[in-house]
Amino acid sequence: MQVARAGWKLAASRESTYSGGFKMTAAAPRHVFSQRHLLGIEGLSPFDITALLDMADEAVEVSRQVEKKRATLRGRTQINLFFEPSTRTQSSFELAGKRLGADVMNMSVASSSVKKGETLIDTAATLNAMRPDIIVVRHHAAGAVHLLARKVDCSVVNAGDGAHEHPTQALLDAQTIRRNKGRIEGLTVAICGDILHSRVARSNILLLQALGARVRCIGPSTLLPAGIERFGVEVFTDMRKGLVDADIVMMLRLQRERMNGSFVPSVREYFRYFGLDREKLALARPDALVMHPGPMNRGVEIASDVADGAQSLIREQVEMGVAVRMAVLEALARNLPNS
Ligand code: CP
Repeated sequence: MQVARAGWKLAASRESTYSGGFKMTAAAPRHVFSQRHLLGIEGLSPFDITALLDMADEAVEVSRQVEKKRATLRGRTQINLFFEPSTRTQSSFELAGKRLGADVMNMSVASSSVKKGETLIDTAATLNAMRPDIIVVRHHAAGAVHLLARKVDCSVVNAGDGAHEHPTQALLDAQTIRRNKGRIEGLTVAICGDILHSRVARSNILLLQALGARVRCIGPSTLLPAGIERFGVEVFTDMRKGLVDADIVMMLRLQRERMNGSFVPSVREYFRYFGLDREKLALARPDALVMHPGPMNRGVEIASDVADGAQSLIREQVEMGVAVRMAVLEALARNLPNS
């Protein structure tokens, strides 16, 4: 990762502007993100990831200006197709597309023909006939986004598929960590809670390890996938032990909508053993930072005073969500065949 990180430093110091988009380095050649789709972190190289994070850093500056509008995606059509509820991901993809000048359409599945029994393939073929450039998809079934990507001519972004992957969440988490800690390599990141049902955990494990972090997974044995050690993570069923010396504490939502049966005895007991409160956070490094992808269940996986406390990066994660999605849309748009 040394090479990629050096590239990032150069990118920050030697800049020139190219027409319409984010700034690019003049002398130092950057790694070019050459994928057609973003379906997962799996399959991305550390250089792909770093290239997207570097672009996202520049998108943060764009978003902090009064005039946020760019023309990078002018003339492009972006469809947001969400089969599951979303606040952060859908709204940030919409804002990101609009800030880059795309025509953005949010397709409401609740009022679409999916409700009349139309299949995912037929929906994909119908949307494809309208000649979009990018489709952003969230679906409750793992693998559904990959299937859709094989049926359309445009670029597809996975905005979360079942318990499989949520790549832009992992990218925005990495960007938040990198901006606050100055690096990812060598950090100890403790991912805590409902790992079993979490696409966020899976994408984060892949990404953080690709960039050289040490990852711990903490949760009750009922919420840890069988064989998770094979991912190369350290596993803890005692949160107090798992938090010792952690640099980052990443809490996960208890995903009760994905649970068939009882995985925890009671919410009260879960909070007592696996909820992040000030006492447990004190076991991590004194400068440890707290993250949560949202939506948060206060008093279930995280105490309110920790969620709103000085060590919390939760609001910053939301800001980085828009920047990372701007970076992803721009990177994919550059690779469109008619670009
Ligand atoms: N973190 C996340 O994916 O949030 P939403 O479900 O609100 O999009």
